[in-house]
This record gives sequence, structure tokens and C-alpha cells, in this order.
Amino acid sequence: MKVFVTGANGQLGHDVVNELVARGHEAIASGSGEKYTGVQDGTAVCSAPYCSMDICQRENVRQVLLAVKPDAVIHCAAWTNVDGAEEPENKPKALAVNGEGTSNIVDACNYLDCKMMYISTDYVFNGQGTEPWQADCQDYDPMNVYGFGKLMGELVVKECLKKFFVVRISWVFGRNGGNFVDTMLRVGSNHSQLKVVNDQIGRPTYTLDLSRLLVDMIESEKYGFYNATNEGNNISWYDFAKEIFRQGDMPVEVLPVTTEEYGISKAQRPFNSRLDTSKLAEQGFRPLPDWQDALKRYLLDKNR
Ligand SMILES: NC(=O)c1ccc[n+]([C@@H]2O[C@H](COP(=O)([O-])OP(=O)(O)OC[C@H]3O[C@@H](n4cnc5c(N)ncnc54)[C@H](OP(=O)(O)O)[C@@H]3O)[C@@H](O)[C@H]2O)c1
Repeated sequence: MKVFVTGANGQLGHDVVNELVARGHEAIASGSGEKYTGVQDGTAVCSAPYCSMDICQRENVRQVLLAVKPDAVIHCAAWTNVDGAEEPENKPKALAVNGEGTSNIVDACNYLDCKMMYISTDYVFNGQGTEPWQADCQDYDPMNVYGFGKLMGELVVKECLKKFFVVRISWVFGRNGGNFVDTMLRVGSNHSQLKVVNDQIGRPTYTLDLSRLLVDMIESEKYGFYNATNEGNNISWYDFAKEIFRQGDMPVEVLPVTTEEYGISKAQRPFNSRLDTSKLAEQGFRPLPDWQDALKRYLLDKNR
């Protein structure tokens, strides 16, 4: 299959390109810049060709995708700075990337009649309650600008395409970008005590594990809405931090605090990020491994 991947310089897109190449698919990586930055230790980890394509430029997207003629597009590019999106000067850009950018890709996929996968988030919901969000839940009620933009993306995919996957994920960590695990390791290396919120609940998602599932999906025709995170208990960020320091063998004391005690962040955050992933097995997909196992492999990989 020929698969076009947006956001290939980001955490998820990088691993998706590598997974496609490892399975013998023809992957075309794309990012907004001139260069493919998917490198580790100065060595390119992937031989996929690279396209520079700003997803907000409608004509540019159309020209590139019509020239490439992919069998599928895995759309990982997004504005992901959740707090930054709340700044009045950034809001139009955040919405343009996540909403109109996705719409531009949808238009080209529609024209090409190819498969499309859109990576979404639990932020399309309001983060209230304690029940896990179901894959087919459409009780949309985003609580911040980022969530609103990602919802615009979901809606245009659902309304305009038939051969689509919407995959909602949460708490992402991967080798190609900054994430909570890296932040904890960095801050923990020069603090003996840290405060971390214990009232926002969800599950982490390791991009390496997710990429395997996304490629399984794109090879199939089992279209629709899915949730995908690593398996295991739902936890708080406090629990996650404690496990990072336990596995990393770092003597850092983690103190639980509420979101209110922690202080105001620019964007409102969901308390309930629980995503029900049971539809994966129901549809014959192999769920992701347990999040503790994923963290162990991530830390091993980082230390290699
Ligand atoms: N990170 C999380 O915790 C999380 C949680 C739930 C859902 N998600 C979703 O998962 C997906 C992947 O997230 P991630 O963590 O891998 O994101 P990431 O590391 O921030 O990467 C996003 C990529 O999007 C690209 N991009 C931004 N604006 C663009 C534009 N105008 N044109 C083309 N490319 C553009 C950037 O490319 P360049 O670097 O080339 O500029 C960047 O590398 C996103 O859809 C995100 O919304 C993430």
C-alpha cells in the first residue's frame, strides 16, 4: 500500500512512518517544514521520501496528494500546544490547523477515493463524570480551543468520507518529541519532591504500540470510530509520575495535589479522560499492551 503520513516530524507520525516501512508499505512522510527531522543520534531512521506540505494551504495539499495518489492517508499533524491555543493571537491558527487543515486533507481523500485515518482525542468531550467514553459516543462538548479544533476535524471526516477511521487517543508519549515522561525525568533529576495532579484520570498511549495498531487498521476495511490507549488500570498523572520514578529508579517523592491546588493553566483540562478501548477487540484488532509494560520499553529504549 502507498500511505501518506502527515505530522511525520512529530511523536506519532514518526513512529507510524517507521512501522509502515518495516512492514513493506510505501510510506510518504510529510511535515510543515522543509526537512524531515525524523532522526535519532544524527542518523536518519527512515528512508521514506519526504514532502513539505502546510496542511492549511488548500491548493498545496491538493497538488501534493493528487500527485502522490496514496491508497491511504494517516493524518497525525495537528496543533498540539493545548495551552498555547488559548492565547488570542494563536486561536485562529490552532483552529485553522486542526479544523481547516483536516478539511483540506478530507477534500483530497474524497477526490482520490482513498482511505483516511484521523487521530483525535478525548478532548472532544467535556471531561466530566467517571464513565469511560465509548468509541461511538458523539456527546461532543469540548472544553478548550484545542478540543474544539479537533472536533471540527472529526466532524468533517465523518460528514464527508465513507472510508475513514477516527482514532481517539490520550496522554501520548513517544521518542520523537517532548512528553510527560521526559518532563518528569528532566525535572526529577534536580528535584527531590514534586507535586503532580491526582484528579485527572486516563491512560497513557505509547506511540510505538499505537503505530502497530494504526497500521493494522489501515490495512483493513473496518472503518469507523475507535479509542486506543495502552491497556491497564486508569490512573492519575500522579500515579503515572510515581511509576516513572519507580521504574527509572529515581528517589523523587511525588505529592498528590488537585488541579485546583496545582493552579490555573491557560486551558481547562478534562478530569475524565478514560477511553473505553473494548471496540478494538470486538472488531478483531489486537489491543495495545499494558501501559506499565509500554513505559518499561520506552525507558529501556531511551537508555540504549
Ligand atoms: N500529544 C498528546 O498527548 C495527544 C493526545 C491526544 C491526541 N493527540 C493527537 O495525536 C496526533 C499526534 O500527536 P503528536 O503528539 O505526535 O503531535 P506532535 O508531536 O506535536 O506533532 C504534530 C506535528 O504536526 C505538524 N504540523 C503542525 N502544523 C502543521 C501544518 N500547518 N502543516 C503540516 N504539519 C503541521 C508538525 O509538523 P512540523 O514539525 O513539520 O512543523 C508536528 O510535527 C495529533 O493529531 C494530536 O492532536 C495527541
